[in-house]
Amino acid sequence: MMKKPGNQNRSILPLTLQDVSYEKNHSLLLGKVNLILESGPRTIILGPNGAGKSLLMRICHGILEPTAGTVDWSIPNAIRYQSMVFQRPMLLQRNVAANIDYVLRLRSMQKKERRLRTIEAMEMTGITYLKNTQAYSLSAGEQQRLALARAWATKPEAMFLDEPTANLDPTATHEVENIILDIHKSGTKIIMSTHDMAQAQRIATEVIFLHKGNILERAPVKMFFQNPVSLEAKQFLQGKLLWG
Ligand SMILES: Nc1ncnc2c1ncn2[C@@H]1O[C@H](COP(=O)(O)OP(=O)(O)OP(=O)(O)O)[C@@H](O)[C@H]1O
Ligand SMILES: [Mg+2]
Repeated sequence: MMKKPGNQNRSILPLTLQDVSYEKNHSLLLGKVNLILESGPRTIILGPNGAGKSLLMRICHGILEPTAGTVDWSIPNAIRYQSMVFQRPMLLQRNVAANIDYVLRLRSMQKKERRLRTIEAMEMTGITYLKNTQAYSLSAGEQQRLALARAWATKPEAMFLDEPTANLDPTATHEVENIILDIHKSGTKIIMSTHDMAQAQRIATEVIFLHKGNILERAPVKMFFQNPVSLEAKQFLQGKLLWG
């Protein structure tokens, strides 16, 4: 984990959302959401297209302000100790190693440490052999592995992943899922969105089911899939709920 200044070596988690909502053009797209995300379990936010998964993740990560309610990490400046991976990776027009180095430089890290962390992150995600390759010439799967490397290089305490395999084939999906499990093993809290039930079962410890901007259920993964409580979750699991 990245060392915090002063005596602040407390965790940034839990993250607490209180009465969070997001409204646009008089329509309520999210909320009210009340949610506490603790360190530990791999949390999957599951829901159909348009349910509000991306909105919720962006609000948690801090790049979107809710129109009402509060989002509180457990310590100040927590934003530095968490990261996000997007469905379509946003990479710089530089080579693989330079893309990782860039985020470390933003954290004012010294060159020696940056180099070590870059090597470590490339190894973790299996892209060492691509270190001098330009990001734009990578395949979709390689780009997403670079996005994971970059998000993990800062050793975040929490990582948000918004449908990180949505554009990938089964092999690349499998690779990315394994990296996500490794990142979790390294001590990073995983909060990941997906509309893919099988993926949720592979990755989740707990499931948060989102529908039309509301959290309808939160349960340990087995319980959710064996015994969903809401009608909407039952329909979704039967493939009958096609949009949010
Ligand atoms: N900036 C915006 N302005 C207006 N409507 C928006 C905006 N962002 C999202 N929405 C709407 O909010 C709803 C939730 O969108 P969101 O992208 O969070 O869904 P999602 O669950 O991530 O869906 P998907 O699985 O397709 O990624 C959708 O109906 C979407 O059209
Ligand atoms: Mg989305």
